[in-house]
Amino acid sequence: MKDAAPTTAPETFYLKDYKPFGFEVEAVELTFKLAPNSTRVLSKIRFAPKENAADPRFFLHGEALKLISAKIDGAPVTPELIAGGLICDTPDTPFTWEAEVEIDPAANTALEGLYMSSGMYCTQCEAEGFRKITYYPDRPDVMSTFSVRIEGNEKVLLSNGNPTGSGDGWAEWHDPWPKPAYLFALVAGDLVNHPDSFTTRSGKDVELNIWVRPGDEGKCAFGMEALKKSMKWDEDVYGREYDLDIFNIVAVDDFNMGAMENKGLNIFNSSCVLASPETSTDANFERIEAIIAHEYFHNWTGNRITCRDWFQLCLKEGLTVFRDAQFTADMRSEPVKRIEDVIALRARQFPEDNGPLAHPPRPEQFQEINNFYTATVYEKGAEVIGMLKRLVGDENYAAALDLYFDRHDGQACTIEDWLKVFEDATGRDLSQFKLWYSQAGTPQVQVSEDYADGHYTLTFEQSTPPTPGQPDKAPRVIPIAVGLLSPNGGEVRATEVLELTEAKQSFTFDGLATKPVPSILREFSAPVILERETTNAERAFLLAHDTDPFNRWEAGNALATETRVSMVTEGAAPDGAYLDALEKLVRDDTLDPAFRALVLSPPSQSEIAQSLHNRGVTPDPQKIYDAAETFAQTLAQQLETSLPRLYAATTVDGPYQPDAHGAGLRALNGRILSLLTRLDGGEQAARQYQAADNMTQQYAALASLMKAENGESQSQAFFDQWQSDRLVMDKWFALQVACAAPDAAAGVASDLTGHALFDMKNPNRFRAVMGALAGNHAGFHHVSGAGYQLLAKNLIALDSLNPQTTARMCAAFQTWKRYDSARQALIRVELERILATEGLSRDTHEMVSRILQG
Ligand code: PHE
Ligand code: ZN
Repeated sequence: MKDAAPTTAPETFYLKDYKPFGFEVEAVELTFKLAPNSTRVLSKIRFAPKENAADPRFFLHGEALKLISAKIDGAPVTPELIAGGLICDTPDTPFTWEAEVEIDPAANTALEGLYMSSGMYCTQCEAEGFRKITYYPDRPDVMSTFSVRIEGNEKVLLSNGNPTGSGDGWAEWHDPWPKPAYLFALVAGDLVNHPDSFTTRSGKDVELNIWVRPGDEGKCAFGMEALKKSMKWDEDVYGREYDLDIFNIVAVDDFNMGAMENKGLNIFNSSCVLASPETSTDANFERIEAIIAHEYFHNWTGNRITCRDWFQLCLKEGLTVFRDAQFTADMRSEPVKRIEDVIALRARQFPEDNGPLAHPPRPEQFQEINNFYTATVYEKGAEVIGMLKRLVGDENYAAALDLYFDRHDGQACTIEDWLKVFEDATGRDLSQFKLWYSQAGTPQVQVSEDYADGHYTLTFEQSTPPTPGQPDKAPRVIPIAVGLLSPNGGEVRATEVLELTEAKQSFTFDGLATKPVPSILREFSAPVILERETTNAERAFLLAHDTDPFNRWEAGNALATETRVSMVTEGAAPDGAYLDALEKLVRDDTLDPAFRALVLSPPSQSEIAQSLHNRGVTPDPQKIYDAAETFAQTLAQQLETSLPRLYAATTVDGPYQPDAHGAGLRALNGRILSLLTRLDGGEQAARQYQAADNMTQQYAALASLMKAENGESQSQAFFDQWQSDRLVMDKWFALQVACAAPDAAAGVASDLTGHALFDMKNPNRFRAVMGALAGNHAGFHHVSGAGYQLLAKNLIALDSLNPQTTARMCAAFQTWKRYDSARQALIRVELERILATEGLSRDTHEMVSRILQG
């Protein structure tokens, strides 16, 4: 049915066509009789027709279901099965619908609906997976209470809400909070738990569990602490308490995304919850803490207040990403988190916003909603909220959020509802601000300055390039945080937020005895591209003196980009002044090690390619790679005498703790080790590998050695040590490809797809290899085209098994128009090959068509 080959273009859904469902759903009762190939699902649903319904049709979504029987008020009926569901004649008074369907969880490799993973049953219903479980109005604005009975021989039988009874081979659950079907979940398996409890601020005891496969119980403690911290933080900062007697988290090995916020029963990709010092890096720990928080925070922003339709996805995702970033900033370092988020935004969202897949945070059309779980909806959605908060101020933000929860608790809402709350709480007109939700593309802001007689003027000009379907853009409201420094380093004007609302606008600062040095877009106050004619000397000044840590890092990042660009375009040597500045910073022990590690981390090769493209130069991936190598080698030589001391000074003694301070030191230590390895060929790295008692150091040593092509024995040892740990093996697979030289990468990846432990059906493993290939810039874009061919071949093979993951990974091709005509031609052949595949999923069809058209 839906997954069949689209013979014509698939149907497009539009925001403007929204119509409410014609019936209230008063209560849902479900019974599951579990069997791997023939699970029976019995539903009993109370419907009440709405008066004057815009769409009175009784249409229930359903896909890949075998209908066994249907009844209305106890009498058998014969519904008409139509594309994507069924329709049926119904009484015009409230009635009870009953249906029995059969489904095949064991054959479900798409990992949507009810499926099996490592012998356990689990579900994934967001966005439109519930329709693969039973016939239902599967749309987020239909909210109801759910009572669930599970019959199965598994030791653990879980669903949403509170447990209401259990016995031999059965369990019952009731969720008192009305919810959309996408938040439904069921888990059944022979699982073990890591239990704990939390007392809410009003004194309610909540039972907490993390459920895992036997053997993984030692990897739950960190996630549990993160959960309790999240619960406390949401009470303290947003005044939101948890609302059920129990909160369960389950780890599953096969999962398309990171995790899912099902009410009271969060389901996690095991890579996003399981952690131990021996198997997880510092980066893993930080990410796990953030994702646990993210899913928990959805309980209010997403579950209690949900989305009216899927066009409003950023209503819950943007806000919840914003909240989890605030949480991480509070738990760790605020500036470091901000820098990390901006790096990620530029790496993932900017290419999307400036290429064929560009769409606004609230899209107005889609073919497959799964293709819109994007960096734009999530990360830009969060940036928009950050701007809103900056514009209205912290107190108004808090008042608006209180009003949002008061006014909309229990509702399915829109971006209009969200903005209205801010307008009502602050008296501000947000109609121009709303353009951030409807316009795609990253605004470019050009700045010029003028100084005379003590008056300093900054003039800003904004414009946004055309994006698919949006040739012209109106000026937006852009909050620009600015501080002014005196030429000898002190701050003469503290940060203030300028509100740019016009296409061109000037702001004047008076009473300045000398021409100041401006620090513009502090904290990255808006997701824009700032363009300003400036000198490397001024950048170096800001790198040394800016009081805003973000802009300090930004100045270094700009210098790094400049020097790499001139190395590529002019064959220049690495900029000496920049190398000197870096050396000073690395040795400055008064600076946070995590910050120093970030300053030492070069912009990615893909980012350099984008910078070249923006300057009208066609990027040559091999040259960019060579420049990166030369730069790192030169830096290592410059630091030669200090590296051993720095290495020793940043080595953390004592037992491993995944805290922010230790992680920062280890991050810096890892950067230093990689430089040191360029000089000593891997002696120190080999010693570190040998001595490491935690994955962070073991992995850093292995990565350095492999990069130096001197890690074969350690790579083998690593494999032998960890071959039965899936998550560690994902690291091993990815590292082979990430460290491969440009002309070897595709071959290495291809060989790995033939490895006994490679498994197409496991998204983590597939992504480990193919994601690492796409991330090896010079390898993926090797002029032979081997990288493109290998990725396309594997995407075609995966599509019939798992359309969602396939479609998402097509984005590796989204930057194709940056490159030379020979590479473009090679990519076009592959994109067309994918598109011509017989039986191609709607998901992949939409992605590839958009990439080709844009
Ligand atoms: N809603 C999930 C989150 O962001 C992501 C997700 C989407 C998971 C779709 C699975 C499927 O937390
Ligand atoms: Zn989310």
